[in-house]
Amino acid sequence: MTRHFLRDDDLSPQEQQAVLARAARMKADRFADRPLAGPRGVALIFDKPTLRTQLSFSVGVAELGGHPMVIDGNLAQIGTRESIADVTRVIERQVAAIVWRTYEQDRLAEMASYSGVPVVNALTDDFHPCQILADLLTITEHKGRLAGLTMTYVGDGANNMAHSYLLGGATAGMHVRIGTPSSHQPRADIVDAARDIAAGTGGSVQVTDDPVAAVDGADVVITDTWVSMGQESEAGDRKGAQSPFAEFALDSDLVGRAADDAIVLHCLPAYRGFEISADVIDGPQSAVWDEAENRLHAQKALLAFLLEAGAGA
Ligand code: NVA
Repeated sequence: MTRHFLRDDDLSPQEQQAVLARAARMKADRFADRPLAGPRGVALIFDKPTLRTQLSFSVGVAELGGHPMVIDGNLAQIGTRESIADVTRVIERQVAAIVWRTYEQDRLAEMASYSGVPVVNALTDDFHPCQILADLLTITEHKGRLAGLTMTYVGDGANNMAHSYLLGGATAGMHVRIGTPSSHQPRADIVDAARDIAAGTGGSVQVTDDPVAAVDGADVVITDTWVSMGQESEAGDRKGAQSPFAEFALDSDLVGRAADDAIVLHCLPAYRGFEISADVIDGPQSAVWDEAENRLHAQKALLAFLLEAGAGA
């Protein structure tokens, strides 16, 4: 059975732990595993802007012994120039895996339904699960564990990062808190799914419109841009003087409500003076550069896992 990674809960708690443990080993011994030796190709398709994802998947595929093939979604025009089904049938015969950054989650699910090789979500409007794996690896490095820790995300609660923290954090047995205005709540079905997962892992889920309550005593404090890719036309409303997110800005006062040894994460790109202040992201509690590097290690481990799982290993 081909295994895909379309959303965070496509990995069971045990599988997520295994991927994270493997990522730590791969980080310690970076060139030891070569499951893509051949080299086998991996298609990296981008319908939206990218820096970290293109970089980390390209480097990662090469380090696994494979050949990264970046495909510009604006040239490929998947779903308009030709159907998702036809594109997938062409690509899957030539590569070991397909990594796709696109808009609607349904597009990714449709590709997976036609693909005999793993399809990996490299960010959609709904989820960014590779980023959460990197974040969980980073938290483990700094805190020594995941289960039982409180991870708070403040800002746009309806975006891909909030949704992935809910599912991925609950899978890890964490207490996930989302601090967001009532106008930007996470999707109810995702909150419900996260609560179901948390019931089995010992984690919990809390969504609040009170930023101080959200951050109070947290071990990890996280934010993300207020204007996600595809929302550029709303930038004025989202970042202006009347921003609904203004009181959720991660500044030193708000971080001061967290545990004294709390770490701060941000998936980047960051907009200092909006969702995060410069003294926080550039300050001593920030782990964002570890977090950005850990995309590489987490995604290498994920690819290795998916390839083995699909091969029945
Ligand atoms: N929420 C952001 C994440 C960027 C990595 C976006 O979708 O643009």
